[in-house]
Amino acid sequence: MPFRGRVPGAGAVVAGLLTWVVLASVTASAADNSACAACHDQGAKLEKSAHASVACASCHLKHDGYPHPANVPKPACSQCHQGQETDYERGVHGQAVKHGNAAAPGCDLCHGAAHELLRPKSAEFQAKVPETCGMCHSDVAAQFQNSVHGKALAKGIMDAPVCTDCHGEHSILAASNEASPVHGDHVRETCANCHGNVQLSRRFGLPADRVVSFDASFHGLAAKAGNQTVANCASCHGVHNILPSSDPRSTIYPKNLAATCGKCHQGAGKRFAISQVHVAEGRAEAAPLRWVRQFYLLVIPLTIGLMLLHNGGDWLRKLFRMRGDGAAARFRDGFEAPGTPNVRMLRFERIQHGLLVLSFFTLVWTGFALKYPDQWWARSLMFREGSLRGVVHRVAAVVFMAVTLAHGLSLVVDRRLRLHWKHLIPTVRDGREALANFAYNVGIRSAPPGRSAHSYIEKAEYWAVVWGAMVMILTGLLLWGNNLMLAMFPKVWLDVATSVHFYEAVLATLAIVVWHFYTVIFDPEVYPMDTAWLTGVSVKKIQPSPSAPELPETEPVPAATGDRIISS
Ligand code: HEC
Ligand code: HEC
Ligand code: HEC
Ligand code: HEC
Ligand code: HEC
Ligand code: HEC
Ligand code: HEC
Ligand code: HEC
Ligand code: HEC
Repeated sequence: MPFRGRVPGAGAVVAGLLTWVVLASVTASAADNSACAACHDQGAKLEKSAHASVACASCHLKHDGYPHPANVPKPACSQCHQGQETDYERGVHGQAVKHGNAAAPGCDLCHGAAHELLRPKSAEFQAKVPETCGMCHSDVAAQFQNSVHGKALAKGIMDAPVCTDCHGEHSILAASNEASPVHGDHVRETCANCHGNVQLSRRFGLPADRVVSFDASFHGLAAKAGNQTVANCASCHGVHNILPSSDPRSTIYPKNLAATCGKCHQGAGKRFAISQVHVAEGRAEAAPLRWVRQFYLLVIPLTIGLMLLHNGGDWLRKLFRMRGDGAAARFRDGFEAPGTPNVRMLRFERIQHGLLVLSFFTLVWTGFALKYPDQWWARSLMFREGSLRGVVHRVAAVVFMAVTLAHGLSLVVDRRLRLHWKHLIPTVRDGREALANFAYNVGIRSAPPGRSAHSYIEKAEYWAVVWGAMVMILTGLLLWGNNLMLAMFPKVWLDVATSVHFYEAVLATLAIVVWHFYTVIFDPEVYPMDTAWLTGVSVKKIQPSPSAPELPETEPVPAATGDRIISS
């Protein structure tokens, strides 16, 4: 069975039923052909045709008597095949005829004479379709006959597509018409009807992952969002001249890929041959890609898992303590160190943080929207062919990079900020505190240990942002400069950059939610929110705690607190 996989619409179903009723009524009177056979021999041909069951008189009205009446109109196919007629009238050919173009085909040109009509589903008819269309579209037909599909068809392989499998048969539309199955927006589905079919792929020994890997590629994702400038199957494979990658004439023959990608990516593949384009996860993928995936698939659950344990334990501990102490406000009952308010963030730091928040969440939103364009939260970004998403993503990226740069510079030029920043340099004590707190939070240790004001919690947060920012900026720039990259470096670099960019984004987003949101929102000590990012002053009060370790405070910081101890 060939895969003629189009699903009929409701209209087609109704038309089909009507046709069936008409057809059933005409076949009922098929017995009377003998009356005509006395003088006509058409019956012999008709018997071998698809119309064998149709009575002469059903098509030829008013011919029962002889001599026949004059001016009887010729049988119209539409009399019984209204559905096909309607489709035909909508298509380019019907329109052309309507506008007086005599060169366009009518029913009989494609189907042959009514008396000798072949079943369209028969191998004989199908195999002749390229020839039929080729009567007028001879260039295309000649190309097609040399293509892998055309050759397969010539060998009698009925699973190979003929013209009408891609174009439709009656409502053939111009390729530029958005409703056409060969329009750029639909090429993927048209090819996927067969190449997304695992059985067919297996039968012909074709890789079964082509559609999946295309969908996962940047081209596929952007196309799904409505982008029409990215490559679809036909941009790389050609259309009527599709050939296997092993054929030197093929657009995807390794040596021709520079030209094929070069249509859109100037200079692509000039230096390094373009390798593997359909990159399928887990199947024959380049080693570096596998390493990246395996690394993150290990690191993400491990990191986030430990964070969940740590914070979950912390939350439970505080909950029990609050119940024991009776008052939720317990944690607010500390004191403020005399003289210095509990300032956590200087003004310039708050501005940086604000811009970071804004750009970070915009990046997360617009980034994951590319990967998951069907989600409700992504759809609002997808108008104008999804181009809005890309623009917003890039604007946010520029803001993000500017903040990062401003942060680095500010530490060089401003002593005050530098001194404050020094509190975030990790020390051995952080390690000890982290272990002790973790042990306490998960119940291994019973006495609450002390914690520095700028503790491992803030430090882990800060350095994770620094690391994440570096990784995302570097890989993001590589992706942004994809044309240059394709021209200068092996394609696998871009594949690796894409993969790292994605996984690191997942890690960063989860870490912000699980780690940072806990400490600044859900931690009972600060709930509903630590407003330090707005006011500069933390709502956390300093708890008088006998178990607090000594302060190794060296240099006092103006206007911001030093490392005091918060017991929690
Ligand atoms: C007695 C002999 C005879 C019988 C019976 C007969 N025909 Fe004809 N038919 C002719 C002749 C002779 C012509 C050519 C002269 C003409 O056009 O009248 C013809 C012409 C035709 C034509 C072509 C011209 C046109 O009118 O469209 C059709 C179609 C046709 N017949 C259909 C039929 C059908 C259907 C039957 C059976 C219901 C039938 N005939 C029965 C003798 C006969
Ligand atoms: C499915 C409809 C259909 C059936 C059934 C049918 N015909 Fe025809 N017939 C046509 C059409 C269409 C033409 C071509 C009209 C034209 O272009 O002049 C035609 C033409 C003819 C002609 C004119 C000469 C020719 O061969 O072109 C004759 C005679 C004829 N038919 C007889 C018959 C007889 C006898 C039968 C039954 C055995 C029959 N037809 C069954 C549709 C039909
Ligand atoms: C009087 C009604 C009638 C007319 C007029 C008629 N057909 Fe048919 N046609 C039928 C019937 C009934 C069948 C179904 C026969 C069957 O399936 O056994 C059929 C079958 C067909 C089929 C094969 C469908 C399939 O699924 O295999 C094609 C193609 C076809 N017709 C084309 C035409 C064309 C082209 C014309 C005009 C020249 C035409 N028909 C005129 C009644 C008609
Ligand atoms: C450009 C060529 C072309 C023209 C013009 C054309 N057909 Fe077809 N038709 C086809 C092909 C190809 C198929 C087989 C489709 C398939 O593979 O299932 C077909 C199938 C059919 C079928 C079988 C049922 C179906 O829809 O698949 C009928 C009936 C039919 N055509 C009737 C008509 C009628 C009536 C007209 C004129 C209004 C017409 N065709 C015009 C090419 C054409
Ligand atoms: C594998 C699917 C497929 C098959 C099979 C196919 N086409 Fe096409 N065809 C397309 C696509 C896709 C386009 C649009 C190309 C573009 O956008 O430039 C197209 C465009 C066309 C065009 C208009 C543009 C041009 O190149 O002239 C014609 C005419 C055409 N095809 C005819 C045919 C004919 C005739 C056959 C059979 C011999 C055929 N096609 C087989 C997919 C196919
Ligand atoms: C008898 C000649 C003839 C036959 C046979 C024919 N076509 Fe056409 N086709 C035309 C003409 C004429 C036009 C141009 C219509 C126009 O420009 O308005 C056309 C237009 C087209 C177009 C639109 C081209 C574009 O602008 O994108 C496609 C696609 C197409 N045909 C496909 C086919 C297919 C597939 C077949 C076979 C099933 C076929 N044609 C059979 C004459 C033919
Ligand atoms: C109707 C089903 C069908 C459709 C639609 C179809 N193909 Fe194919 N394609 C096949 C079959 C079957 C083969 C295998 C032919 C063979 O090996 O003899 C094939 C082979 C190929 C090959 C060569 C594979 C190889 O290594 O031999 C490529 C490339 C290809 N198709 C791409 C496409 C593209 C691109 C499209 C869409 C524009 C498309 N096909 C549409 C059925 C289809
Ligand atoms: C960006 C260009 C590009 C796009 C888009 C693309 N392909 Fe490919 N395709 C290739 C290249 C290059 C190969 C050769 C093997 C490889 O590098 O993975 C290939 C291989 C294939 C093969 C195996 C043929 C062979 O001889 O190796 C099939 C089948 C195929 N692609 C189908 C599709 C389908 C279906 C689509 C759309 C869903 C599609 N391709 C989209 C470039 C592309
Ligand atoms: C029809 C035009 C077209 C063709 C042909 C094409 N591309 Fe692209 N490709 C694009 C567009 C447009 C973008 C998006 C560029 C952007 O937004 O910066 C893109 C983006 C890319 C990206 C970067 C996105 C990412 O995250 O990885 C890569 C890599 C890429 N293409 C590789 C290829 C390769 C390899 C080929 C040839 C096998 C190819 N392209 C063929 C249009 C095309």
